[in-house]
Amino acid sequence: MRIADFRVEIWMNRWETRCRYNLAETCVDSVTVAELLALAGLDTADLAAELAPMRLGYGAIEGSDRLRAAIAARYDTVTQDQVIVAHGAIGANHLVYEALVEPGDLVVSVTPTYQQHVAVPESLGATVRQVRLDEAGGWRLDLDELADAARGAKLLTVTNPNNPTGALLAPDDLAAIAAIAGREDAWILADEVYRGIDQDGPGTSPSFADLYPRTIAIGSMSKAFSLAGLRLGWVIAPPEVLEAVSRHRDYSVISVGMVDDLLAAIALEHADAMLARNRAIVRGNLAILDGWVAEEPRISYVRPAAGTTALLRFDAPMSSDAFCTRLLETEGVLLVPGSAFDTDGVVRIGYANDAAVLTAGLERTSAFLATLGA
Ligand SMILES: Cc1ncc(COP(=O)(O)O)c(C=O)c1O
Repeated sequence: MRIADFRVEIWMNRWETRCRYNLAETCVDSVTVAELLALAGLDTADLAAELAPMRLGYGAIEGSDRLRAAIAARYDTVTQDQVIVAHGAIGANHLVYEALVEPGDLVVSVTPTYQQHVAVPESLGATVRQVRLDEAGGWRLDLDELADAARGAKLLTVTNPNNPTGALLAPDDLAAIAAIAGREDAWILADEVYRGIDQDGPGTSPSFADLYPRTIAIGSMSKAFSLAGLRLGWVIAPPEVLEAVSRHRDYSVISVGMVDDLLAAIALEHADAMLARNRAIVRGNLAILDGWVAEEPRISYVRPAAGTTALLRFDAPMSSDAFCTRLLETEGVLLVPGSAFDTDGVVRIGYANDAAVLTAGLERTSAFLATLGA
């Protein structure tokens, strides 16, 4: 199977361990096992008591009942038999595309997005039509354009909250997208890995899974729950899709690790505490970023509404690759070039990591910008 290079992953793999200030990370500042236990009101003895008698076979193939019930509880209408776990959201997305997409299918992808949602369906022989969010309109989705593009589509794929822009679809937009998909009898693949850390309001906005019956919703422990080390994601879908996903999953997953399953269940059973911590981080850190953007004449942006990332537009006569490479070489600050999202003149920042690293990295970026002259 031929597939395009995954540009953001290649860039991250190359640089994330070789920079001083990582402002490219998309997870909310990861927690240690001890911090997870503290947030859950447990201690290491409690965990040891759960782990010691655990017989390390393959475990529950589709994910333990305990974990799948805790995942289902993140939605209003989902039951645990609609949940199957996977190796991260990346594994979950991949399985869904393998299970549903055939050569000649039309897939509509709202972009910019995580490149998986374009490259994988293309590699499976689908035609992928991209509907781009409009930066001038605040990364707005043009619903008429989506409706046109969706004619004859088998699957619409939307990342909400969006990576890289940090845009969040309003409830009316969700309903309109569902209506467009409904007219085509199309599936919606909703990648919702950043759900739960909105900047405003209660912090968790609605899932497509609770709005539209032909939804496949993807979630993960990595981003909003800051537990990427568990490598645990999930698929929520109606039975016919779960069956197809399971058929493919038997060849590439079997099951996820039992220890990962247990730790994910503990975290999700204490989701309120985990998300309260993480919302405080994304909200506090965005205030830092916002203040910096306001003071930097060469930088402008659409303030993100949710998630962990934003696109910074820079005023400098160079490509986004040159900008990021020079910034890394001179100041050790890691951002992601917009070219990885087919959007030049911008760089992606991940602002949800350690606040001290964010502050120092932004200071070094200012020093770099000051060298660029008039
Ligand atoms: C939109 C989106 N989906 C999926 C993933 C993969 O996440 P996971 O760590 O759960 O595999 C990422 C990672 O950056 C992402 O941004």
